[in-house]
Amino acid sequence: MKKFTAVILIISLVLSANVLAFADFNAPKLTRDEWNMIYDSYYPYNTLPMLCVGADETQVSLCWHADKTNAVSCVRLSENEDMTDYKEFSGIKTDAEKNTQVVCRVTIDGLKENTIYYYQWYTGNEWSKICKYETKSFGNHKVLVVGDIQIAEDWRTDSDTQSDIGFNWNNVLAEALKENPDISYLVSPGDNTSTGKTDAEWQTLLMPEAIRSLPLALAIGNHDKKGMTYNYYTNMPNEYYGKHFRGLDRDFWFRYGDVLYLFYDSTSGDAPDHMAMTKEAVSLNQDAKWRIGVVHHGIYGAGDAIGDTETELLLTTIFAPVFESYDLDFVITGHTHSQGRSHFMKLGKVVQKAESGKTYTDPEGIIYLNSNSVCERVYMDYEADHLAYSFIENDVTTYTTLEFTDNKMIVKTRRGDNSELLDSITIERTTSERKENSIGNVIYRLAYKVVEFVGLIYVKIDELIKYFG
Ligand SMILES: [Fe+2]
Repeated sequence: MKKFTAVILIISLVLSANVLAFADFNAPKLTRDEWNMIYDSYYPYNTLPMLCVGADETQVSLCWHADKTNAVSCVRLSENEDMTDYKEFSGIKTDAEKNTQVVCRVTIDGLKENTIYYYQWYTGNEWSKICKYETKSFGNHKVLVVGDIQIAEDWRTDSDTQSDIGFNWNNVLAEALKENPDISYLVSPGDNTSTGKTDAEWQTLLMPEAIRSLPLALAIGNHDKKGMTYNYYTNMPNEYYGKHFRGLDRDFWFRYGDVLYLFYDSTSGDAPDHMAMTKEAVSLNQDAKWRIGVVHHGIYGAGDAIGDTETELLLTTIFAPVFESYDLDFVITGHTHSQGRSHFMKLGKVVQKAESGKTYTDPEGIIYLNSNSVCERVYMDYEADHLAYSFIENDVTTYTTLEFTDNKMIVKTRRGDNSELLDSITIERTTSERKENSIGNVIYRLAYKVVEFVGLIYVKIDELIKYFG
C-alpha cells in the first residue's frame, strides 16, 4: 500500500509539471511524510540521473547508472511535450563502481535560450519518464548557490540521517526556486556527500524532482574525497587532470554567457596544476566579463576555518595568489557550515569595505562568500576583520543567488525557510580591462613558482603519509 501511494504521489508530482507547463520548476515543498514516500521508493535503486552544466550555455549533460546488460548511453530531446520530433544524442559508457551497472554520460548541445525542452534517457530497459528542462536567457541570468549538501553527516551515515538531510535539501531547493523561478543552474562549493563511498548518498541528492530541471555544477570537497563515488555520479565540463593530480583530484571550468567559472579542488595542494588550469581557462575566455572562483575550503570565510592555521595558510598561500593574479571578481567557498561574506580582500588584507546593501563600482580586491550547509549547521559567532557579514543562527540553512545583468553582479543571501533577505551586495564593472598581465601580477606569478615547488613537496609528503598510514 505504501509503495502504491508513493507511486501515485510521484506520478502526481510529474503530472503537476505538465499541467503547469510554463511554471519554471517542479519543485514542491514537501511534508515529511511526502518526502519519506519518495525516499523509500527511490532508495532501493541506483538509477536517478544528474543534469550537469555544460561547457557553455548551449550545452547540458546527463549522467546516470544503468543495468550493464542492456544499457545504451542515449538521450532524446524534444521541444514537444509528447516527445515528437525528438533529436537523439549518444554518449559514452564507462565502468561503474558495481559490476552490475555502467555509467552513461551524454552531452546535449545546440540548446537555444528561453526554450522549453523535454527529455528522456535510456534506463537500460526502456525510455525514462519525460522530464522538462527550460533554458533561460543566455545573457542576463541568475544562479543559485547552495553549499555542503553533504548527504549524511560526519558521525551519522545511516539511512534515516540521509533522509533527514534529503528532506532539508528538497525543501531549501523548493523555497529558493519558488522565490527565484528564473534560476538557470546551481553552483555548489562541494562536500556533496559525507563518505564519498555509497551510491545512496548520490541517489538522495538526486531525489528532489527539481534536480531534473536544474543543471548542477559541483565542486569536490574533503568529504567527497573520502571515497571515489564523485567519479561515477558527475559529469562536469572541461575537467582538468593536470600533471600531478591523483585519484579524484581535478579542477574544471565552464562558461555561461559573460561568466567564466573556475572550480578548484582545494583538497589538493598541487599549486602548479591549479595555476595552469586558471591560465588555460582564462586565456580561452578573454572576453568573459566576470570571473568567479569556486573552492570548497573557506578562504577568508566564516566559522571554524578562522581558527585552523594550517588550512588558512595553505589556502591563502596556494589559492589566493591564483585568484588575485588572474583578477577574479568573486570566490564561492563552503566547508565550515556557516554563512559569511568577506570585504574586498587582497594580499591578506581588507582593501575596501563591502557593506550590505551597497553597490561598488570597479572595486579593488575579491569578495569571498562562504556558503552555509544543507546538512547539520554550526553555530558561529566569530569576529574577524575580514568578515563583512555573518549569519549566526544554526536552526535554518541559507541560500545565495548571483544575478548577472549587463554590467552588474547582484549577490543576495536569504533564509532557506522563508527567503527573508539577509545580505546583499552589488558589484558593477564599467570596464572590460583585466589586470592579469600587469607587471605586478606577472611578478606575482613568478614569485609563485616558489609556492608551486613547496606545494608539490607538500603533495608528495601527503601521498607518503597516506601510503604508509
Ligand atoms: Fe568540508
